[in-house]
Amino acid sequence: MDRVAVDPFENLEEVFARIRKPGLLLTTGNIGNPMTIGWGTIGVVWNKPVFTVLVRPSRYSFGLLKEVGDFSVSVPASGDKETAKAVAWCGCHSGREGDKYEAAGLTKEPGITIDVPYVAECPRHFECRRIHSNHVLDGELNHEIRSRYYPEGDLHQIWWGEILGAWRIQ
Ligand SMILES: Cc1cc2nc3c(=O)[nH]c(=O)nc-3n(C[C@H](O)[C@H](O)[C@H](O)COP(=O)(O)O)c2cc1C
Repeated sequence: MDRVAVDPFENLEEVFARIRKPGLLLTTGNIGNPMTIGWGTIGVVWNKPVFTVLVRPSRYSFGLLKEVGDFSVSVPASGDKETAKAVAWCGCHSGREGDKYEAAGLTKEPGITIDVPYVAECPRHFECRRIHSNHVLDGELNHEIRSRYYPEGDLHQIWWGEILGAWRIQ
């Protein structure tokens, strides 16, 4: 099976179904540390296709993003229970503890346009280059959201990545 380049906007229902359950795998750094994400958007900003992801400063991935800037987002297949289990694992273990690929039973695949590996078990992935990042601003945030999601602070940083390419297995 080959990985072929596709329109980043094709079949977005699939991406948004998976982001809700079981989550997507954000990979960053030259090691491609996989971290589960449940929030993110895809759209057009500055006339570019853009994937935005939200990462709390406490995550190991945060430091990797700061260093490297580039990231990939890997989308698990519908009904793939094994990968869903690995996604859940990556959402409650940190790369600070060691190589998450080996521990979660995932395979690292070298990036195609960026020097960041993605997750081979996922049939679709996006490769992105940071074009902007900004903190969620405490004073500008809706109060209910502030108290529900940030009782201990650790406000997310939003990373805006130009989608350099999107691929799927065909
Ligand atoms: C379903 C799910 C969705 C998550 N979504 C996010 C997210 O969007 N942003 C975030 O900062 N953490 C999110 N997390 C938490 C991180 O995945 C988790 O803290 C992880 O252990 C961080 O890995 P790292 O320390 O290797 O970067 C989510 C966890 C789960 C289980």
